[in-house]
Amino acid sequence: MPHTHEKKPHIALTGDRPTGKLHLGHFVGSIQNRLKLQNDADQSFYMIADVQALTDNADNPEKVRNNVLEVAMDNIAAGLDPTKTTMFIQSLVPEIAELTVYFMNLVTLARLKRNPTVKSEMKDKGYEEDVPAGFLLYPISQAADILIFKAETVPVGEDQLPVIEQANEIVDKFNRFYGTGENADGEAEGVFQKIIPLVGATARLVGLDGSAKMSKSLDNGIYLSDNEATIRAKVKQMYTDPDHIHKEQPGKVEGNVVFTYLDIFDEDKARLEELKAQYRAGGLGDVEIKERLATILVDSFEEFRMRRSALEADKEAVMRILEAGTERAREVARATMQEVRKAMHIDY
Ligand code: TRP
Repeated sequence: MPHTHEKKPHIALTGDRPTGKLHLGHFVGSIQNRLKLQNDADQSFYMIADVQALTDNADNPEKVRNNVLEVAMDNIAAGLDPTKTTMFIQSLVPEIAELTVYFMNLVTLARLKRNPTVKSEMKDKGYEEDVPAGFLLYPISQAADILIFKAETVPVGEDQLPVIEQANEIVDKFNRFYGTGENADGEAEGVFQKIIPLVGATARLVGLDGSAKMSKSLDNGIYLSDNEATIRAKVKQMYTDPDHIHKEQPGKVEGNVVFTYLDIFDEDKARLEELKAQYRAGGLGDVEIKERLATILVDSFEEFRMRRSALEADKEAVMRILEAGTERAREVARATMQEVRKAMHIDY
């Protein structure tokens, strides 16, 4: 029989650290891509990265634990479908930790210290040289998270790109040391293949205060689970044009957070262009544009809020979803570890 080249299944994987509820930045940065991929990929995985969350919360395991269900509910309410996406808890798949140990030999300490994502997180958290080893190493364990499931597409926020780049260096090293040789392009082949990161249409959402990034720690975000009153109050606080004091004055649209958000969330682009023109010319008040944005946000996430409260009423059912997903994920992880041990000649 002639050798047939079967197409490998297209596998997607993504994850969240369970350290708090998800906000609009997560939604436009990666959740939208997750939702699309769960239909487009042959298999998709969603991981609650509690092990990674503990790398900088070792002293606060309760926070991590409490947020496991929160991020699970956020994702399901946003449209992640547990019958299409295998949802699981990282710490319950110990094979990931095992693979991390072998990957540790493939990365130098100097390279870890150069990772721009880790560097900026270390700065934010005030770590100098006193960084927990586990935190410095988290890009290695994130490589294991992805590769143990042989995922090729990984929806992430823009800030995660250097982590994926580092994972791909691990792929290359592993395949060079333990692989089957080079392909026609001179790339080492073996158990693992290169990962392609997928960043959302809006790579980065500015914070309510106009700072570069919406983030939990800066407390400048709108959470997906915020209720109508909270959304309206937060939009009222948004940074606009500080020189636009009276409605009649001409205002600036660029750098005006309300318009930045309208650009993303307002589907009536023609009307939006009219409003921008009017704002620039003078005669359109901040109150009006803020009301428009608040209403759009309230409406866009109404279904989300309904689904989320239904989930909150039955958290045990959410836990059962994670347990079932974890079982499935673990089977895949076990199978990959067998391949890994064989490739490394430690399959005694
Ligand atoms: N580092 C990611 C974040 O902070 C979370 C994460 C852990 C992840 N493991 C992953 C994302 C694997 C994608 C794939 O958001």
